Amino acid sequence: TLKAFIFDLDGVITDSAEYHYLAWKTLADELGITFSRELNEELKGVSRMDSLEKILEFGNKETEFTNEEKEELAKKKNEHYVQLIKKISPADILPGIEELLIEIKSAGLGLGLASASKNASAVLESLNLKKNFDVIVDVNALKKGKPDPEIFLKAAELLNVQPDNCIGVEDAIAGVESIKSAGMFAVAIGPKNQFSTADIVYQTTAELSYNEITERFINR
Ligand code: G6P
Ligand code: MG
Repeated sequence: TLKAFIFDLDGVITDSAEYHYLAWKTLADELGITFSRELNEELKGVSRMDSLEKILEFGNKETEFTNEEKEELAKKKNEHYVQLIKKISPADILPGIEELLIEIKSAGLGLGLASASKNASAVLESLNLKKNFDVIVDVNALKKGKPDPEIFLKAAELLNVQPDNCIGVEDAIAGVESIKSAGMFAVAIGPKNQFSTADIVYQTTAELSYNEITERFINR
């Protein structure tokens, strides 16, 4: 039986995935590395340091920096990002999300957040959605990032529910992989061809349907 929904944040609840992209793009430009929205798809859901490694690889510069310099670069990206998300307000909640959260709550289901971002709590606060969540996984306490299932399993554990009684919602390839390897039902947001392992794919959050998702969950 269905007990809980566990959401990713960036690109699902709000369009902060775009701000992550813009912040990385600024850094990549400074480093003379070609970086595009297409390459950014591989970074969604991926931790800050792992994202930096990937960008350096895109530019064949992975051996050019010491660990200390890499820390500096990651810090710089985060400063760009923190600047960009200052303007976030409840108006930036993506279409369909508030309605879905209300239906989840009225059905008496648990609600968890499984975001890899260290800025997740601040973003949720700016959206005025923090109070809606029963649990928010602390990424600092995790060993492995997405696509490892650890973050979704942790959310289920904190919600005190079994993974197979959970539905995960993600916009990242690594995120859907994380949900599926946690043994959960996966709802993906984005292009259909990108998510062959998801249980349902919606092009945009506006198309999310509580009734359709729960019906498919029951008939899985
Ligand atoms: C999310 C985003 C990634 C981002 C990661 C870390 O998973 O999808 O693009 O790199 O969080 O975010 P942070 O705010 O900690 O740098
Ligand atoms: Mg995301």
